[in-house]
Amino acid sequence: MALPTITIIGSGYVGVTSAAIFANAGYRVYALEINPERLSAIQKGQSFFYEEYINPLLHHAVESGSLIGTNSYKEAISQSDVVFSCVGTPDKPDGSSDLSYVMAAAKEAIEYAKPNSIYVQKSTVPVGTGAKIEDLLASQNKNIAYVSNPEFLREGSALIDSVWFDRVVVGGSNSEANKKVNDIYKHVALAREAIAMRAGIDADNIPKGLKNEYLTTTRSSAELIKVSANAFLALKISFANSIAKLADAAGADIVQVTEGIGSDPRIGRAFLNAGRGYGGGCFPKDVSGLISSGLEHGVELNIMQAASAENHSMPGYIIKKASRHIGDGTFANKRVAILGAAFKANTSDSRKSPAIKIANIMSEKMGAVVSIYDPKAFSEDGIYKELHSDILVCSTVVASLQDADMAIIATDWQEFRDMAPIDYAKHLKGTLIVDAMNCLDPDAVRQAGLKYIGVGR
Ligand code: UDX
Repeated sequence: MALPTITIIGSGYVGVTSAAIFANAGYRVYALEINPERLSAIQKGQSFFYEEYINPLLHHAVESGSLIGTNSYKEAISQSDVVFSCVGTPDKPDGSSDLSYVMAAAKEAIEYAKPNSIYVQKSTVPVGTGAKIEDLLASQNKNIAYVSNPEFLREGSALIDSVWFDRVVVGGSNSEANKKVNDIYKHVALAREAIAMRAGIDADNIPKGLKNEYLTTTRSSAELIKVSANAFLALKISFANSIAKLADAAGADIVQVTEGIGSDPRIGRAFLNAGRGYGGGCFPKDVSGLISSGLEHGVELNIMQAASAENHSMPGYIIKKASRHIGDGTFANKRVAILGAAFKANTSDSRKSPAIKIANIMSEKMGAVVSIYDPKAFSEDGIYKELHSDILVCSTVVASLQDADMAIIATDWQEFRDMAPIDYAKHLKGTLIVDAMNCLDPDAVRQAGLKYIGVGR
């Protein structure tokens, strides 16, 4: 049987990754994107952001004709059997989700949708959004099925997460449509070897022992699974950060503490790394979105309010801790090198990055002379709008460290882990290393004659 033709609306992190994968699993895929720069990148077989393994797959798909970039809803949607909406869901100033892109995409797509096609919502939306889209679909009398199919990929490992998935969640009331969406992923699973080869993924990097679960739920449950999964992980991080503050006060080491508690399989070691807190396009807005959803339904999620407040406190907490270890306790006119700007390692994304927050507080509020370096983040334009204008952007780690009184490791790039402490000592003028990611070995740093400040250690 012929494979369905797919449209992916939106070429953001999720959309580009999904388009690259489906097109390399044998589907004909339209990448529907209205932003001219993103569209032109896709048409050249490139992504506008840095993500390992994506470009070879995009390149192959565009060359072979299986991936077509377009800005025409009519061209893409009218030929597609399954439409995945992967448009952005930014947060509004009050923390609730801005659904204008989601609703606008649905309205326009429905106009051209084929009768009996499937509309899949992949970007994260608050519980209840699907009901509104279903109402729109019903108004057209084209028998279009709606399926909620949340995405669980992490930036930095997006391709591996999406091809070697733990679980696929589909939620909707049309069981035939649910099955068809599940079948797309089963087909991706069958194409794993070919995708690995094309992308150049080493066998060692391919996850083993996957559960490959296919969970079919109601539409609302699927919506809630996505936001609460992210909220729970954010909660784990904020828990670790609050215990880190206690560890600091009591002279314990949070790294040892989280190892100790994480080895209990009921707790698990993942997402207990204390540091400057979480950022990115998902956790901050999913937490605030969940709080808003709760309020709309008359439920106060105090636990998430606390997780968010804890997260916001971390950059200031780390700066305050560091201030107790500099001679006169003030950063005014001190030269501070910030290593890392992305919200985490292995991505160029710096949305809501705590590293930027640390850099800006240091420059704007503390009066420090700040330089910053990141291996990838400055390849995206958005970062320049976020960064305080006095901050000097450096193109190498050494340039950033040169003549600095102290360095703050703000993103745990491998490059910073790999740099020998003696080299930090060589290039810094001062002797202070603030490890806001707890990613260096404190003893090795001290042996190089430097002073080490971690978070909760
Ligand atoms: C997250 C979810 O993990 C993913 O399943 C979902 O689809 C999208 O949101 P992502 O935002 O790409 O993915 O990154 P993730 O690896 O989850 O990290 C989020 C933030 O938490 C980063 O800023 C990271 O540095 C921070 N973090 C993570 C910690 O501070 N401590 C940890 O232990 C883990």
